[in-house]
Formats: sequence, C-alpha cells, structure tokens
Amino acid sequence: MAGKRIYLASPQMLGKEREYVKEAFDSNWIAPLGPFVTKLEDEFKKYMPIGNAVALSAGTAALHLSIKLAGVKPGDVVFCSSLTFSASANPIIYEGGTPVFIDSEPDTYNMSPVALEKAFNEYPHPKAVIIVSLYGMPADFDKLLPICKKHKVTIIEDAAESLGATYHGKHVGTFGKYNIISFNGNKIITTSGGGMLLTDDAEAAEHALKWATQSREPARHYEHKEIGYNYRMSNVCAAIGCGQFENLEDKVRMKREIFYRYVEAFDDIDEIQMITEPDRMKSTHWLSVMELSNDSKVKPVDIMDALEAENIESRPIWKPMHMQPVFSECEFFAHDDERPVAEDIFANGVCLPSDTNMTEKEQERVIAIIKGLFA
Ligand SMILES: Cc1ncc(COP(=O)(O)O)c(C=O)c1O
Repeated sequence: MAGKRIYLASPQMLGKEREYVKEAFDSNWIAPLGPFVTKLEDEFKKYMPIGNAVALSAGTAALHLSIKLAGVKPGDVVFCSSLTFSASANPIIYEGGTPVFIDSEPDTYNMSPVALEKAFNEYPHPKAVIIVSLYGMPADFDKLLPICKKHKVTIIEDAAESLGATYHGKHVGTFGKYNIISFNGNKIITTSGGGMLLTDDAEAAEHALKWATQSREPARHYEHKEIGYNYRMSNVCAAIGCGQFENLEDKVRMKREIFYRYVEAFDDIDEIQMITEPDRMKSTHWLSVMELSNDSKVKPVDIMDALEAENIESRPIWKPMHMQPVFSECEFFAHDDERPVAEDIFANGVCLPSDTNMTEKEQERVIAIIKGLFA
C-alpha cells in the first residue's frame, strides 16, 4: 500500500491558530465563553453579513436550536432536503416533529423546487423548511424562496457544508430566517468541533444563547423557567476558529482549484460528469463530486476500491434520508416520475479526495488511478 494517506477533507492549520490557542491558555479563558468566542461571532456578523451570530458546540446544536426557534412541536411537519447528512434531519425528531423529505434537482443536487411544490400541495402548513446547500454548492434560492414565501413558511438554512459559497453574490447561510454553519473537523474551516447559528432576529439569537447556556434566568441563584442545553462553544475552540477564519478565502480558492483540476482531467471521459455551478452561484466545492453515467462500465465501487488500494480515501454520495432505515416511515416527494434524482446521484456518485492538504502531485496520482480504470 502506498505511503501517506490522502484524505477526503482533513483539518489544515494555515495561520495563527496555535498562537490564539496559546493566548486562550495564557489568559486562562478555558471556558464556554471568552474573548475568542465573541471575536468569532463578530467576524461572522461582518463577513456574512448578518445581524446576529451565536457560536455553539456543533452545527447540529445550531440546527436543534433553529428548530426550537421555528416553534416545531410534536406532530408538526418539517420539510427537509433528502440528499443530506443525517444531522440535517435528526433535530426535527428531537422536538417530536415529523420530517417530510424532498428530492434533489439534477443541476445542484440540492432541494428540487418541483418536489417542494408537490409537498406543499399535500402539506400546505409545514412548520419549517430545511434547505441544505450540499458539498459547497448553493441551493437554487431564486426558485425555492418564492415557493416558501407564498406558503409563509419559516426557512432554516443548513449551510453546514457551504461556508464561503455565494448566490448572486450573497452568502449562503443568510437566506433563511435561521441559518447554520458547521466547524466540524472535515469542514472548510474547523474549530475541531463547533457550529454557528446566524439570524437577523436579535430576540431569537438571544433566546438561542439562553437555551445554549442551560436556560439560566437573570438571578443570583440558578433559576430556570425553560429546559436548557449545554451547547455553547468553548473559548479554546473559538481560538482555533479565529485563526482558521483568517484563511477562509484561501481555503475556498484551494477547494475550487482542486475541483477544476478534476473537471479538466476528466473532460475527455464521457462517462464522468461533474456539475459546475451556474453563473449566479459560486460553489466552494468543499467536496469534489463526480457522477458516472448509468451505462458506465466503471462503477463507483470500482473507483473507491482502486483508490483505497492506494491508501486514498473516497466515499459514496450521502445516502438520501428517505432511504435510511431510521426514517423509513417518513414521506418523500420526488422531482419527477423517474427514479428519484437523489437515488440516482447516490447510485452513481463518488466524493473524491478534496483535501486542501493534498499536493498537486498527489491529486495527479488520484486522477491517474481513476483514468486508468477507463483506459
Ligand atoms: C449537511 C450537514 N448538516 C449538519 C451537519 C452537522 O454539523 P456538526 O457536525 O457540526 O454537528 C453536517 C456535518 O457534520 C452536515 O454535513
């Protein structure tokens, strides 16, 4: 087996992360609050831009609090993209809600406006819609937002994988009433583990912060009127995040370069398709994804096996939620009468190594292995 492993996406420290963590230690702010937590929130408010940012222990925590802010109660229907990671949908269940899954459209792999309309025909009053922008690619907001607006439904944007992506120049993670980002180790910037809730609603942000810090009422003793959570980000994690944030644009550039090297390399292989974003969008291509044609003799498993044999990580496309045993009871609305788009992408897609630690030479090796299968 070849030497150093090539990863899908691993953490990469580029700047002042270590210095800031040392500063956190030296000042003894080793707590779920402190100057770096505030600094990271301020940076995000300016960058997105958005009125309020609440730094939390995970993107999942940010989604859970968003679901609570949207007022989801037991039995309430919540629409959610089917082609996503399970963390998009799990918090619906935490609050006793009923997920209804929406298929993808083929141009972005994100929520299909056609399937969304169908879901509204059946369920005119869902409590919220969770729109995911997967793999760094923005969802098609021009089509999705008017439908949601018409039905006066709260939008929760799951931008866990798409920090840095834009749609008509506006940042993904600002289109919902509540929006979330993830800083998990594999994301475009990391705090080791963490997340951010973003909203223009100051009162909602304040409420989220209260829930996240055990729902303490303003009193000298511990007073609680609501159930609380221990969801606040630690100052040590935020120190890493502040260092990472300073290099976000470089990371976006590197991810895009990786993607476009694959696009160019596979241009002459008819069986391989890689979706490039339409002009109105800028994808970060957090993960480079390829799709094989139905009639391709080379299958995703052949690519993954060939790469693994050379100590290179790759992965199937996220298995859609409506195909997951845990959500087998949930309803699903398809894009058209053919095989659901999300199922097609799952069957034919592969997530390729997209690690910004990967050298150009290493990527050339990845490309050569894949091309070899089509020779
Ligand atoms: C689409 C999506 N939503 C939510 C999450 C949850 O984020 P976290 O791992 O920070 O809890 C992730 C990633 O882990 C994700 O990929």
